[in-house]
Amino acid sequence: MQKYDEAREFILKCYRELEKSVEETQDRLAVIKESLMQKATYELTYEELEHGARMAWRNSNRCIGRLFWKSLNVFDERHLTKASEMVKALYRHIEFATNEGKIRPTITVFNPRMRIWNHQLIRYAGYETKRGIIGDPHSVAFTRVCEELGWSGKRTPFDVLPLVVQINSEQPVCFSIPDELILEVDIHHPYYPQFEELGLKWYTVPMIADMALEIGGLRFSAAPFNGWYMETEIGARNFADVTRYNMLPKVASLIGLDTKSDASLWRDRALIELNIAVLQSFKKSGVTIVDHHTAAKQFGRFEQTEMDVGRELTGDWTWLISPVSPSTTHIFHRHYDNKVVKPNYSQQENPF
Ligand code: ARG
Repeated sequence: MQKYDEAREFILKCYRELEKSVEETQDRLAVIKESLMQKATYELTYEELEHGARMAWRNSNRCIGRLFWKSLNVFDERHLTKASEMVKALYRHIEFATNEGKIRPTITVFNPRMRIWNHQLIRYAGYETKRGIIGDPHSVAFTRVCEELGWSGKRTPFDVLPLVVQINSEQPVCFSIPDELILEVDIHHPYYPQFEELGLKWYTVPMIADMALEIGGLRFSAAPFNGWYMETEIGARNFADVTRYNMLPKVASLIGLDTKSDASLWRDRALIELNIAVLQSFKKSGVTIVDHHTAAKQFGRFEQTEMDVGRELTGDWTWLISPVSPSTTHIFHRHYDNKVVKPNYSQQENPF
C-alpha cells in the first residue's frame, strides 16, 4: 500500500518534530490506515497541514529564504466548493500577506479538486502586438486565455491579470482583483532621478499559484504561497532579462554608459543601478524586501540550524546563487545536494 507508506513516513516525521507521544502517533496511523481502506484517501488534521506546509517550504531546494520556514501562516480552505468562495479566500490571502507592506509568508490550501490557472496571484499581462510585446512577455499565453474568457486589460505595461480558478474539470472562471488589494511600488533611483522616466513599478508580493503542495501522499493542486521578494528577482530578472522587460539598454542610456562595447561592462553597471533602485524603492515605501547578501547570510544560518538538529540540507545550487555578483556570497563556493525530500512543492502540468 504505497499510499499508506507515504502517509506513515510523513506522520512519523511530523509527529516527532511536534514532539507527540508514541501512543498518539500510533493511534493516528491506525485511523489513517482505516480511512485509506474505506475511502482510498485520508484527511490531514489542521496541525498536520500546517506543519506539513512548513516542512515543504523547508525542503524547497531552490529557495534561499528558508530560514523563516516556521513562520509560514497557513489558511485551511479545503472545505470550500464554489469558485466564488475560492476567489474570496484568494482576496483574503492577498490582503493578509500584503499587510500594508509588512509582508507575511502565507499559504492558502484548497481542496485537491481545485486549480488556479495563474502563475502568480498578482502578475502583469503581456500582449503581442505588431510593434512588439506590451507588458510582461512571460504572461502572453495566459493573457490570451484571460481574453478568451472575456477579460480585457487597459494594455499598459503593468495591467494586473485577473484570477482564473477552476473546479474539477469545469470551465474556469475569471475574477478581477479589486485595486485596493494590490500594493505596488514605483521604482525610482536614490541618485539618478532620470530613472522616473522608465515608468517602472512592480507588485509587492510574489504569490506562486501554479505549484502543487505534496504532503503524506496527498497532493493539493491549488495551494498558493508567498514569501517576500529578494531584489534580484525584480531588478536582475523581471526588469533585466532580454525575454522579460529588457530594460538594461534603456537604463544604460539614461545614466550615460557606452553601450557600443560589450567590454565597457555597461550591462553589469546598469544591472547594479537597477537593483539599487528596486531595493531603495521598496525600502522607502516600507515594503519588505531582502538584498542578496543578507539573504545569503540568512541562508547560512538556515544551513547551521538544519545541521544542529541533524537534518541533512538539500538545495539546488543553480537556483540558490544570486544572479548578481554570486561569488560574493558563500553559497557560490560550496556544494548542495539537490535530492527531493517530501513534503514539498512541485511543478504541475499547465492547464491551458
Ligand atoms: N522570481 C519570481 C518573481 O520574480 C518569484 C518567485 C518567488 N519568490 C519569492 N521571493 N518567494 O516574480
